[in-house]
Amino acid sequence: MQNTIDELNRRFQGASTREILEYFLHRYTDKIALASSFGAEDQVLTDLLYSLKDDADVFTLDTGRLPYETYDVMQRTNVKYGVKIAVFFPVSDDVEKLYASQGINGFYESVENRKSCCHVRKTVPLKRALAPLDVWITGLRRAQSVTRETIQVVEWDEANGLIKINPLIDWSEKEVWEHIKEHKIPYSDLHDKGYPSIGCAPCSRAVKSGEDIRSGRWWWENPEHKECGLHLKTS
Ligand code: ADX
Ligand code: SF4
Repeated sequence: MQNTIDELNRRFQGASTREILEYFLHRYTDKIALASSFGAEDQVLTDLLYSLKDDADVFTLDTGRLPYETYDVMQRTNVKYGVKIAVFFPVSDDVEKLYASQGINGFYESVENRKSCCHVRKTVPLKRALAPLDVWITGLRRAQSVTRETIQVVEWDEANGLIKINPLIDWSEKEVWEHIKEHKIPYSDLHDKGYPSIGCAPCSRAVKSGEDIRSGRWWWENPEHKECGLHLKTS
């Protein structure tokens, strides 16, 4: 599999996001989906995907702790494209056990607690969303953080057993925003309130201008811990 992945990465060197999406949509038809958090990058990809395929698959993980603004942009996106983006929830039993063991906001108390919460609310539902697929699409960019500098356009997602593609890999934040404005793509109001990166409400906050774009995510932790389990190389 690694040979195929390497070959695809060579093939897509210098390719546009549209070219990458076209190739995978054509090849994997109904076995490919975008995972969207409704952040700026994912909105760019959603717009591109629907422009290429009316009934493209997009899904989101509703952790149960999302900010109001995410539901608002979800609704505006559904209306604009005439779709109902699929929503995956955590298993209620798991959430009840999590609360029983660490309390309602236990994630502030330790990295371990935080990872357990992300596991129950994101990683497990993601596995369910990915189970029928051969390829998932993400809005990851290399420039987003130290943990993302070495990502590739095409990767083998060992933890979930399928191909993962990152077609916006080399876009800058400025390019994302120029594209959003030019194509009048809906985006979360939180982006205008100083949130460059948006996840769950209790774990995302605004950053000051010039601060690292992911510094408002899990701001009480060190930068090298800041992955929630969606994008780890192994399970
Ligand atoms: S996170 O892992 O730290 O939460 P981030 O918010 O930067 O990730 O988003 C990176 C990519 O992960 C997004 O472009 C999207 O593909 C996927 N992703 C993150 N959160 C969700 C979510 N709630 N639902 C679906 N996909 C998500
Ligand atoms: Fe839990 Fe925060 Fe992770 Fe959301 S981002 S799943 S609230 S720890």
